[in-house]
Amino acid sequence: MSAQRFEGRAAIVTGAARGIGRASAARLGGEGARVALLDIDAEVVHATAAELRDDGIEADAYVCDVSSEDSVEAAVAAAADRFGRIDVLHANAGILHAGAATEETLADWQRMMAVNVTGIFLTVRAVLLHMLRQESGAIVLTGSMSGFIAEPAFLCYCTSKAAVNHMARQLALDYATRGIRVNAVCPGWVDTHFGDVLALSEAEIEEGVRATVPMGRQAAPEEVAAVVAFLASDDASYVTGHCLVMDGGYTLP
Ligand SMILES: NC(=O)c1ccc[n+]([C@@H]2O[C@H](COP(=O)([O-])OP(=O)(O)OC[C@H]3O[C@@H](n4cnc5c(N)ncnc54)[C@H](O)[C@@H]3O)[C@@H](O)[C@H]2O)c1
Repeated sequence: MSAQRFEGRAAIVTGAARGIGRASAARLGGEGARVALLDIDAEVVHATAAELRDDGIEADAYVCDVSSEDSVEAAVAAAADRFGRIDVLHANAGILHAGAATEETLADWQRMMAVNVTGIFLTVRAVLLHMLRQESGAIVLTGSMSGFIAEPAFLCYCTSKAAVNHMARQLALDYATRGIRVNAVCPGWVDTHFGDVLALSEAEIEEGVRATVPMGRQAAPEEVAAVVAFLASDDASYVTGHCLVMDGGYTLP
């Protein structure tokens, strides 16, 4: 990779053990950032950070549940101590389950809202303390195309992602005068383990993708990471409050 847009900068990525977060940490690190990987999965986040270090990236793992205030504040403080600053946050951790209203339990609803929505708030708030001191920073939230459309029997997930997409606009407005940009990347289907909980077969996934995605394929996590890196970089220096939908055309019809 030739561009080194994050040389001398420090980044935090949540949900970084695997999938989109891992790809984002690798991309930001590949372009010169020192990266803190935060994830609830202790074993995998440590293994991922070690693999990034093998690739020459300065990467540290922090075990963190984004839904816990104490856990987030401790991990962000530790990363900020280590790096001395935080230039980029990719607030990405999220979970999924399916269900229409009458199939939803209160416990499942509250857990998803705690991770997908409160988790973003807690992470952004903790990082903003450092970015405000610096009067600079770029924040990218992982929203979703699912925050713009209704999908059959995904009440909680779509509602949570609508909140994340809107949070990007709200945060962008509140901190625009302080040198901090906030945007959201809003993917469609991405080829990760995220949907494992739906227990779809490969054939069912292929059929679903063919039927709904005009480009006829899922995104690779690296394609999402490229958009995250753009939004986090100075190439997007006048872009704030934007929800960048990248869905292979899913929401066009
Ligand atoms: N895969 C898709 O099709 C798709 C589409 C649109 C948006 N997204 C969003 O992308 C984000 C990442 O999803 P992915 O596809 O990489 O999924 P993934 O399941 O592969 O990775 C999610 C990561 O988040 C971590 N995580 C879960 N709960 C956590 C918590 N409480 N605290 C900290 N870490 C936690 C997991 O351990 C995992 O490493 C999610 O916010 C998801 O909503 C995914």
